[in-house]
Amino acid sequence: MIYTVGGIKGGSGKTTIATNLAIWLAQNGGDVLLVDADEQETATDFSAWREQHIGDEIGYTSIKLTGESVRNQVTKLKAKYDHIVIDTGGRDTTSQRAALVVSDYYLVPFNPRSFDIWTVYKVQNLVSEIRAVKASPLKVFTFLNRADPRGADNEEAAEILSQCEGMDYINNPLGNRKAFSHAAGKGLGIIELVPADEKASTELNNLFSHIYNQLN
Ligand SMILES: Nc1ncnc2c1ncn2[C@@H]1O[C@H](COP(=O)(O)OP(=O)(O)OP(=O)(O)O)[C@@H](O)[C@H]1O
Ligand SMILES: [Mg+2]
Repeated sequence: MIYTVGGIKGGSGKTTIATNLAIWLAQNGGDVLLVDADEQETATDFSAWREQHIGDEIGYTSIKLTGESVRNQVTKLKAKYDHIVIDTGGRDTTSQRAALVVSDYYLVPFNPRSFDIWTVYKVQNLVSEIRAVKASPLKVFTFLNRADPRGADNEEAAEILSQCEGMDYINNPLGNRKAFSHAAGKGLGIIELVPADEKASTELNNLFSHIYNQLN
């Protein structure tokens, strides 16, 4: 299965989700390829950092691709891996479109803030355009990342996302938790942190299980 983590907003948590998903899928068994299709190369930097911290066995293979190569190379590589996770930049780029054309799943995190939520209609248009030219189905999941512990913002954002046709809103927000940057700083996924952050790992586990169970 091929998963693209994307959207049309910077800083929504795409790389955090993509790297944690690669680690989670690897722990659940199977060969995982993490493709960095963002010119910022944060996912690649994370993988290098991870290697420095835990050694060669980082659990997945990491490569960097850009533009149309994302589609061409991923098409060639897909028979070799059980799961391919593609991290994209927060803009409507050739790389993100190329990734979506070969993907089965599109995961789009949103911070529950107006400027972030307003981009959902652009994402919806992008999805329609991709579906119009794509032979196989593209399943789209939206969810909240960096959600507040309480307050109306989460509900308002959830309301908007859940009403967007053609995209499934997963009601499993990831909270705004220090553990995410703490784990990244050590080259780890949330589920690998010791001592564990139970809340963060449960939220992430539930989110990924929800997505993964759609396939099995
Ligand atoms: N649930 C969370 N709780 C707390 N901090 C988070 C959470 N998710 C992401 N972050 C932090 O938010 C920042 C941006 O996250 P990240 O780099 O994953 O976003 P991005 O969408 O990939 O950004 P870009 O558009 O620049 O590629 C990072 O410092 C990351 O540690
Ligand atoms: Mg990123």
